[in-house]
Amino acid sequence: MAISMTADQPINSEIDTRLAIDGGQPVRTTPLPWELPGAYWIGEEERELVNRVISARSPFRYYGLDPQKMVDTFENEWCQVYGHRHALGVSSGTAALTIAMSALNIGPGDEVLVPGYLWVSCVSAVVRTGAIPKLIDIDDTFCIDPEDLKRKIGPQSRAVLCVHMSGAPGNIAEIAAICREHKLFLVEDCAQAAGASQNGRAVGRFGDIGIFSFQLNKNMTSGDGGLIVCENDALFRRIVALHDLGYPRNEAGRLDTTVEDCQLWGIGARMSELTGAMVLAQMRKLPKITHAMRSAKWKIRNALKDIPGLGWRHIPDPAGDTGPALLMTLPDEATARRFIDALKAEGIAGPEGSLACITMREWGMHWYSNIPSLVHRRSNSRDGYPWTHPQNAFAAGYDYRHGALAKCDEFHARGALLAIASTLTDQDVDDIITAARKVANSILR
Ligand SMILES: Cc1ncc(COP(=O)(O)O)c(C=O)c1O
Repeated sequence: MAISMTADQPINSEIDTRLAIDGGQPVRTTPLPWELPGAYWIGEEERELVNRVISARSPFRYYGLDPQKMVDTFENEWCQVYGHRHALGVSSGTAALTIAMSALNIGPGDEVLVPGYLWVSCVSAVVRTGAIPKLIDIDDTFCIDPEDLKRKIGPQSRAVLCVHMSGAPGNIAEIAAICREHKLFLVEDCAQAAGASQNGRAVGRFGDIGIFSFQLNKNMTSGDGGLIVCENDALFRRIVALHDLGYPRNEAGRLDTTVEDCQLWGIGARMSELTGAMVLAQMRKLPKITHAMRSAKWKIRNALKDIPGLGWRHIPDPAGDTGPALLMTLPDEATARRFIDALKAEGIAGPEGSLACITMREWGMHWYSNIPSLVHRRSNSRDGYPWTHPQNAFAAGYDYRHGALAKCDEFHARGALLAIASTLTDQDVDDIITAARKVANSILR
């Protein structure tokens, strides 16, 4: 149930202005939809394609009774739509990152520059290849700060892992130029930004390798799944071998062990035809999904943009934003906490278990200092590899504890995130605007 109140209406009665958190009437009492963008759109198209795979009894992409070429079709369509030369479906975004690091020959003695606002998979990919993550601060785009990147590039730096967080890229063209100048590889993590672009260029096309995730929380989903894009033929050959069993395949889909320059160690991260069928159907819906989120998000943001004390993430090209998250900053941590608690009390929250309306303190391993295995330099093996590797001695003084990155720590403390579902109704959008104005009027004066 919603109280009818539009964004431009003044909130003038005692009843209306008393916050629900203080005993007033909430703006709404029904939960907002789950923040799982692609999941809501799963329907007949996915069922039809998955059924084809099942009817053909051919769930393996390389050979079988009657292969339906779902993964092949998906990769080809993705390349056509987003302008990539090569695309490869894989089992997850985490696997894609690991493959990217190995494809670039990264290992002990190398450091990979990563932002402090990221996801645990970004650092795990670096550490598992034997290299060292080096933290870079973010700027008001919530992505890598090009100035801090320039300051931190050192003799061991081999690659930059730029993460397009929360649906949109930051200053990616500038970051790509810095990488070119310093001869560093650039890997774009587009896991949270499928369908995003900047000035007409799709994410994943600014660097050497781009990766995507199709896990349930992402713009399009098959439950789990991922994609690697790249423009270079030789690099792509390594990527294909690494995602499989370390070797290329011949025309018949059988492993070819005879190619001497492509005998590697694979990680078994192939995409199955069932996943291929799901992502093929979802990618065809992606423009509609992102359009829905982007329109709702910018409607909310534009309606609230002049509220004093409420700050906004800078998005260099709003047209290329995919819109799954509205990132805000409040004057200080206590106000951020009160703002979010008050919004939730007004009914601006998803169903039980959703993370639709949170302070950035609650955003878990998206912040470097919340990743225990990084902070404590954990290892998967008894010898402490890769932290103890002699070639990694240069990183002995690297510090991953809270306090390492000033801007990250600041936004971590006084930031807030409102997830934008892909199925918000006009009424949902109006309620969010009404509630945010009501709360802001009361606590941001
Ligand atoms: C920025 C980022 N990178 C990588 C991943 C890993 O993707 P996956 O869950 O498919 O392994 C995720 C999501 O989980 C992510 O948000």
